[in-house]
Amino acid sequence: MRRSAVRPLLTQTVVRREDLIAPVFVDETTDEPRAIQSMPGQYRYPVGEIAPLATRLIEKGIKALLIFGIPSVKDETATGAFSQTGIVQRAVRSIKDLVPEMVVITDVCACEYTSHGHCGIVGETAHGPDLLNDPSLDLMGRIAVSHANAGADIVAPSCMLDGMVGAIRSALDRTGHDQVLIMSYSSKFASSLYGPFRDAAESAYTFGDRKGYQINPANRREALMEAALDLEEGADILMVKPGTFYLDILSDIAGLGLPVAAYQVSGEYSMIKAAGQKGWLNEREVALESLTALKRAGADLIITYFAYDAAGWLNEEQ
Ligand code: PBG
Ligand code: ZN
Repeated sequence: MRRSAVRPLLTQTVVRREDLIAPVFVDETTDEPRAIQSMPGQYRYPVGEIAPLATRLIEKGIKALLIFGIPSVKDETATGAFSQTGIVQRAVRSIKDLVPEMVVITDVCACEYTSHGHCGIVGETAHGPDLLNDPSLDLMGRIAVSHANAGADIVAPSCMLDGMVGAIRSALDRTGHDQVLIMSYSSKFASSLYGPFRDAAESAYTFGDRKGYQINPANRREALMEAALDLEEGADILMVKPGTFYLDILSDIAGLGLPVAAYQVSGEYSMIKAAGQKGWLNEREVALESLTALKRAGADLIITYFAYDAAGWLNEEQ
């Protein structure tokens, strides 16, 4: 009795609903929400359902979302990614019209928009076709500006190009968007935990892999260096991705001084979800424990597919 009364006083780490960011998929190819098979409980929404979804999230206490787009047309140069009438741009506008207080974060990358599925402009290199860094930087600047024009509060570049944050910062500043923040996917590992997401976003690549521009999971120093570079280039928030397998990195990066976000990715979600559905784990307890672990390790913000449910669970516990 007494021990359980004292416990809340001695709880060091508390996850708040305000810490959570909900990833949202907006799909130009559908008129109704489509369930994502490999991510039970997650959907691809038509653009018309995004603002109502934002309303439901706000009502639960979730104050930020991260938008991914699935365009109806893909091409070599990702033109759909920076079109003013693109799927993400329309989704952002609709949220800002109906729920202006929602903080809108957009994923800035090309892999959902390219026919080859890579994160930028591809061309011939000495070792065959591969991502070209500098042409891709211009593309990222254009995508970020188009999102800012639509009303995005924060852009989240995820392509891991060299000079990415600096290029986006100057493109935003040049176009009057100096208030728009950059949340950089600064320490993004070449992880197999993105598998369910690539189904969800139809962003699997058709040749090669992303190992050239994502960090080897074995490399801690490299992850820290990437984060330090992004900090120097003007990032406002640093991100570590995936989350739970990378708590040491999160803890190190939290020491750099900028706010830090952890991305609990699709594979992390699906593992907990699947074991929960089988009755092998208690989904709610494991999910909340995982969020607590991310926060304890140093995350100020957590991007998680559990955001909506976790907000409900946290409401019940308080
Ligand atoms: C790239 C991007 C990916 C994820 C977020 N942004 C996929 C990738 O790098 O292949 C993965 C997120 C997840 O697994 O939940 N635009
Ligand atoms: Zn990408």
